[in-house]
Amino acid sequence: MIIRSEAASDIQAIAEVTIAAFENLEVSNQTEQFIIETLRAAEMLTISLVAEIDERVVGHIAFSPVTISDGSRDWYGIGPFSVLPEYQRQSIGTTLMQHGLSLLREMGGQGCCLVGDPGYYKRFGFKNIPKLILDGVPQEVFLALPLHNIIPQGFVVFHEGFMSVGEQDVAPTSD
Ligand SMILES: CC(C)(COP(=O)(O)OP(=O)(O)OC[C@H]1O[C@@H](n2cnc3c(N)ncnc32)[C@H](O)[C@@H]1OP(=O)(O)O)[C@@H](O)C(=O)NCCC(=O)NCCS
Repeated sequence: MIIRSEAASDIQAIAEVTIAAFENLEVSNQTEQFIIETLRAAEMLTISLVAEIDERVVGHIAFSPVTISDGSRDWYGIGPFSVLPEYQRQSIGTTLMQHGLSLLREMGGQGCCLVGDPGYYKRFGFKNIPKLILDGVPQEVFLALPLHNIIPQGFVVFHEGFMSVGEQDVAPTSD
């Protein structure tokens, strides 16, 4: 498996992987591919990694900047995050996430956050930070990973690309 940054030639495959991954998820309204397009068009797709097997894109993860009301800088939101259904549970997602996090560290990122199942994301070090809030999202599924022991507090706002398609798409969910 190869993990690499997206190329222009991957755009269609990324959309297809995203559509397939979210197709049967109840919490999704199946518009996650548009979030990626909006982020890309706004040049807010800070990290966009694909997992490739036998020259086929089978997974994708996106990181984009978020703002935090306490003025914390260089924080990022994760999502959409997708692996083709037939390739899930083979550690491709874990590998994508680990590569994304190490790139973020190299770039000087201060931390990242997502909405998702704590049971899955705790393996990467994500946990709920009580005073870090994503409006409208239950606190127990809003998870953050500070990279430098500086713990932010306040309201987090994802890029508007997430808002136009519904709050439940802000980031990962449990399945
Ligand atoms: C979430 C997702 C990207 C993870 O990719 P993946 O390649 O399946 O993940 P991995 O194989 O690295 O997962 C490793 C482990 O996590 C578990 N796991 C995977 N997804 C999980 C989830 N949503 N909740 C709890 N555990 C999960 C697997 O069972 C596996 O556990 P094991 O190692 O004990 O067997 C993928 O399952 C997916 O595309 N899901 C549908 C879309 C989605 O929910 N995306 C996130 C929202 S943006």
